[in-house]
Amino acid sequence: MARGQLLLSGTGRLLMAQPHAAEPPGTLSPWAMLIRDGRIGWVGSPEEAPTADRWEDLGSALVSPGLVDSHTHPVFAGDRSGEAAARLAGEPYGAGGILRTVAATRDAPDTELQALVEDRFRAALASGTTSVEAKSGYGLTVAEELRSLRIIGSAAALVGLRVVRTFLGAHAVPSEAESAEAYVEMVITDMLPAVAGHGEFCDVFCDRGFFTPAQAEAVLTAARGHGMGLKLHADQLARTGAAELGVRLGAASVDHLEQLDPSGVAALASSATVATLLPGPALAMRSTLPPARALLDARASVALATDANAGTYTNPSMPLVIGLGATLLEMTVQEAVTAATVGGAAAIGLSHEIGLLREGLTADVVAWDAEHEGAFALRLGAVRPTRIWIGGEERALS
Ligand code: NIG
Ligand code: FE
Repeated sequence: MARGQLLLSGTGRLLMAQPHAAEPPGTLSPWAMLIRDGRIGWVGSPEEAPTADRWEDLGSALVSPGLVDSHTHPVFAGDRSGEAAARLAGEPYGAGGILRTVAATRDAPDTELQALVEDRFRAALASGTTSVEAKSGYGLTVAEELRSLRIIGSAAALVGLRVVRTFLGAHAVPSEAESAEAYVEMVITDMLPAVAGHGEFCDVFCDRGFFTPAQAEAVLTAARGHGMGLKLHADQLARTGAAELGVRLGAASVDHLEQLDPSGVAALASSATVATLLPGPALAMRSTLPPARALLDARASVALATDANAGTYTNPSMPLVIGLGATLLEMTVQEAVTAATVGGAAAIGLSHEIGLLREGLTADVVAWDAEHEGAFALRLGAVRPTRIWIGGEERALS
């Protein structure tokens, strides 16, 4: 347990990050940082460092803000590897896969589901994620969605990861529903009042074969009435205009965006809504890639996240996502790191707390087994944390 004041210092690169996701992270070398009461008390050069109760030298290690994975679906049971193989052999992607996961998840006892989510959170932490957004959405009844949100909260507390919970009741239409319209009505009248105190955000899978923009608008407008923040799975499979819908509703983020066109880029660039890009599933599904370069050039806010989920991509590694951002999505490495820290923080409404190494913010800090952020591209997926602090407390790495 960290008590008192801790001074960290190093001769390597400290990635402080910049407030706007389109700016490269500011770096400092050599550096020193004071951690006090779980927060960053001061950052600067070692000669000017204040005194502290304890001091640790991190040598030449690259040090960054804790990574923020702002889009995950960790509450599921079952295995859909066969479906992934079939998809790569030409099978189309549809709601059937999600419904198979829904059946397996409903069948899983609490203890089993909780253990699965804990394992997924531990794996995320072990790869440098200090804050995670986690969605429900494989339950699709009031009781099952509540169970998923409760398990997200308890697993995160046990593992010691900062979490925001997102209600994704409108993920797919369950097989027992009479119609999509009847299910949307149920989400609005039964689910939202029940889950409102158990999740910070509401999300909708608004896409071809799932929920229409009109249905998404109805769900998100109701969610806003319950005080929830808004997110949207948008323009992944088809260009439905969901990105503009998210902007119009004031969503914190619109996510995926593989089919986004120049007018969608312009709409996002003139808004505060974060464009969350998910290169993992885009790669695994051989999709069109989202227009990362155009979004950054237009100065939209961009986040990178894993989308770790049951059926299209399960890898929780944010270092891999940073590497994919830099290689596959034509971002600079600095832009990719910024999107995985500052951008992710904005996408979950926590810019005032996390994402930057700056005086007053929470001390979520990661030291890496690397000396330069270029390693995220060079060693695609293989860069590992050596030390992690969350809220100024060091976490054991297994
Ligand atoms: O973000 N797009 C919606 N949900 C997940 C996939 C869910 C699944 O296939 O199980 C995603 O890609
Ligand atoms: Fe998703």
